[in-house]
Amino acid sequence: MIKRVISVMIGAAVLSTFSVLADPAKSAKQAKGVTEYRQAIFKLVKSNVGALGAMNKGAIPFNVETMQTNSMRLEQLSLMLEDYFATDTTGFDVKTEALDKIWGNQADFKDKIAALTAAANNLNKVAKGGDTSQFKPAIGQVFKSCKGCHDNYKED
Ligand code: HEC
Repeated sequence: MIKRVISVMIGAAVLSTFSVLADPAKSAKQAKGVTEYRQAIFKLVKSNVGALGAMNKGAIPFNVETMQTNSMRLEQLSLMLEDYFATDTTGFDVKTEALDKIWGNQADFKDKIAALTAAANNLNKVAKGGDTSQFKPAIGQVFKSCKGCHDNYKED
């Protein structure tokens, strides 16, 4: 009985270790591919925040439909980030702006991802709710989450 409990506990400890540690890339080719994929996600993120930024500045009028669509996309893209950063590319000379410490601070990095996911989800709710006074703060929260991560984990 005790033996079984112990083996379950060891199993859980091993599992939790694996979920915290990233896997190193196994080849230069894999490292390059993974890097391109994660950068592609951010390119799509950028394409979906453009209109939101313009609305926030008052350069274009608020468009509830665009806010709903783009925030939904941002949430989906954000949910992909964890997987695409699970491979540690620091062992290879890849063209990247990602700082090495991402892979030494996985828990904190995941928190930064979660902040974007939550902000995008909130913006979607706010857009659906239709209370215009909430639009700017909700968009602002999305941009704050970009900066929150870039300041720590992306080269200037
Ligand atoms: C959890 C951390 C994190 C969050 C949140 C985040 N970024 Fe980034 N971003 C990065 C990292 C790291 C890179 C560098 C990736 C690389 O070069 O491998 C990057 C790269 C980029 C790039 C350059 C992509 C390219 O062409 O290579 C853009 C644009 C970008 N981010 C925009 C945004 C915007 C806009 C937001 C918010 C809506 C955002 N990011 C949120 C970490 C983050």
